[in-house]
Amino acid sequence: MSLLQVNNVTHSYGATNRFWRAGRQKTVLSDVSLSIEQGQCLGLLGTSGAGKSTLGKVILGLEKPLKGQILFQGVDLYETNPSTRRRLRRDLQAVFQDCYSSVNPRMNAEQIIGEPLRNYERLSPNEHRRSISMLLESVGLSPEDRGKYPHQFSGGQLQRINIARAIALKPKLIVLDEAVSSLDMVNQTHVLHLLDELKTSFGLSYLFITHDVKAACSLSNSLVVMEKGEVIESCEDQSQLIASSHPTVKKLLESILSEHPRSRSIN
Ligand SMILES: Nc1ncnc2c1ncn2[C@@H]1O[C@H](COP(=O)(O)OP(=O)(O)O)[C@@H](O)[C@H]1O
Ligand SMILES: [Mg+2]
Repeated sequence: MSLLQVNNVTHSYGATNRFWRAGRQKTVLSDVSLSIEQGQCLGLLGTSGAGKSTLGKVILGLEKPLKGQILFQGVDLYETNPSTRRRLRRDLQAVFQDCYSSVNPRMNAEQIIGEPLRNYERLSPNEHRRSISMLLESVGLSPEDRGKYPHQFSGGQLQRINIARAIALKPKLIVLDEAVSSLDMVNQTHVLHLLDELKTSFGLSYLFITHDVKAACSLSNSLVVMEKGEVIESCEDQSQLIASSHPTVKKLLESILSEHPRSRSIN
């Protein structure tokens, strides 16, 4: 059984039963299927507007699809009872692109990272404190950073805080929606490295949503490319992506392969 199975998901925004509006709806996801195995990273590539973030929201239980199924650990996320759904939700976390708007500016690092722990765990003050220290250390920050507020961190550091919050409950799957896209190249490389390490040490799985082929290839085990709400390519590894004959995939690859015309390698 796959950790996550997306089966024939179709979605459009503003769906209504009123027939006179039906013609105006744009299908944002069309019959999308994919799966993620435990401990694996699936890279979800595509240009802006392809439907990647919508699919991320559908997987996170935030946007009920018009058709199709999201099976997480074998359970249909939208058909199960509220208590099972709450239990599944703790295993399903997210990190988004905008690290500053993902946090409450009036909360310090300890409060931000501790939020899921307060919601789901009953820890003593000492255990809570210890957990925060360990989480800060596992994302390469210091326990002394616990009292700092978002504006006292750089973008790269704050994204580490968001990652610490996402791993606080030891989830099974993290949806990373353009999570490194707004970072400069150095921070991007560091955070990608950190994500790779956490994946191994915590046995995490990722849905790594990005428009950046290079970033996708550096972290992902397998890759899916979307265009206009449809999956246009599914690859087991980056060599299959490079060999793709789909014009959109070729275009995505052109920009980075031209940097290495001889090696035709992405990394
Ligand atoms: N909340 C929303 N309401 C209406 N349309 C939306 C909403 N969110 C996204 N869309 C539209 O859905 C399409 C896919 O968007 P999105 O999933 O954000 O794509 P991507 O993440 O690949 O850039 C776009 O045409 C976008 O304008
Ligand atoms: Mg997006």
